[in-house]
Amino acid sequence: MRLAVRLPVTFDPATHGLMPTAVERWLCERVLPECLDSARGLYELMPRQRGQLPFVDVPYDAFSESHWAEATRIADYAAHAPDGARCVLDIGPGDGWPALPVAAMRQDLDVVGVDPSPVRVRVCTTNAERLGLANARFVVGDGARLPFGDATFDLVTAASSIEEASEPEAVLAECVRVLRPGGVLRASAQDWRLGVPGFETMMLWEGAGTRFYTYVRRVQEPAIERRYTVGLDGSDEAVRLHTEALIEVAAGRRVYGETLLSESLGAELLERFAPHIVQANVVEMQRWSTPAFVEALRRTGFREARATVHAGELGRRFARGVLARGTMTEFAPLFAEATSALGGLAGSQVGDAMVTAIR
Ligand SMILES: C[S@@+](CC[C@H](N)C(=O)[O-])C[C@H]1O[C@@H](n2cnc3c(N)ncnc32)[C@H](O)[C@@H]1O
Repeated sequence: MRLAVRLPVTFDPATHGLMPTAVERWLCERVLPECLDSARGLYELMPRQRGQLPFVDVPYDAFSESHWAEATRIADYAAHAPDGARCVLDIGPGDGWPALPVAAMRQDLDVVGVDPSPVRVRVCTTNAERLGLANARFVVGDGARLPFGDATFDLVTAASSIEEASEPEAVLAECVRVLRPGGVLRASAQDWRLGVPGFETMMLWEGAGTRFYTYVRRVQEPAIERRYTVGLDGSDEAVRLHTEALIEVAAGRRVYGETLLSESLGAELLERFAPHIVQANVVEMQRWSTPAFVEALRRTGFREARATVHAGELGRRFARGVLARGTMTEFAPLFAEATSALGGLAGSQVGDAMVTAIR
């Protein structure tokens, strides 16, 4: 059987001493995935970066725990702007988060988002216009080579973005350079504690008229996440196979919004897709524990770095308590004040979930 397109050999799944999985062996032998950075291999392909963003895509709903979590995180980012701050840089805003809600909350600040994906930057810019936020703008750029002068920003924010870069430590070094002395970096990163040596998931999705299959391999040691994505041609047969597989995927067990891999959803399904595969890539990302993140901040030149509780967890736990007591109707009008107060607290609570670093 021949594939529609032969891609160059660029990725060795046995790097880092890892034993390739059956799906990796299939992909690397049959479609030779091109090794890309996350912006090109993942975020350029997605119509939306992560569902319906509270505030950006849908108004805050005080009856949603996750909206309390997200609004508290925004208040936390905003509370980290040092006194007299004017300029904020958001690294990797995706579809505008936290840049847009921070710009709405703090109209006295100019917020700039930088993302290497032109698609994401277009989505952010459209969202800013739709929301009427004249103090937010977005530029295409790599966090590891920021297109800004030294000591330009008072606050740098980052939500699950620094660790998505191919050179995360170079991004941190650039944050040091563009922050003014006394400026603050406030960041979240997925804390890599899988609880198992590793696991595999997959998902089926659609973007810009193409149907995709993504296989994800997460490994605890070394802390690595690999995402392989294959795109199918637009033939009726490919659409039929993809749609049929969606039914099977819907019945699978979910983890992080993805489906745990079973034999039939791995190489067997890929074998059926094979004649229709027209593109294939792999993105490998280095993952961090929070202590490793703090260490990296110190190494790259921040004067001070510490780990705190997760602002979102404070908001979520508060909302859960109120919802459990059935008193949210009374609390809902206080959503803005309460999330703002909770967000103002998180940075001073020692924990192991978010990081603060001072230049
Ligand atoms: C997981 S998404 C997070 C998006 C957003 N901050 C959020 O929380 O919804 C990661 C983002 O980081 C961006 N990214 C990847 N590599 C980057 C780099 N080298 N510099 C800046 N941003 C990067 C991606 O394009 C993507 O938009």
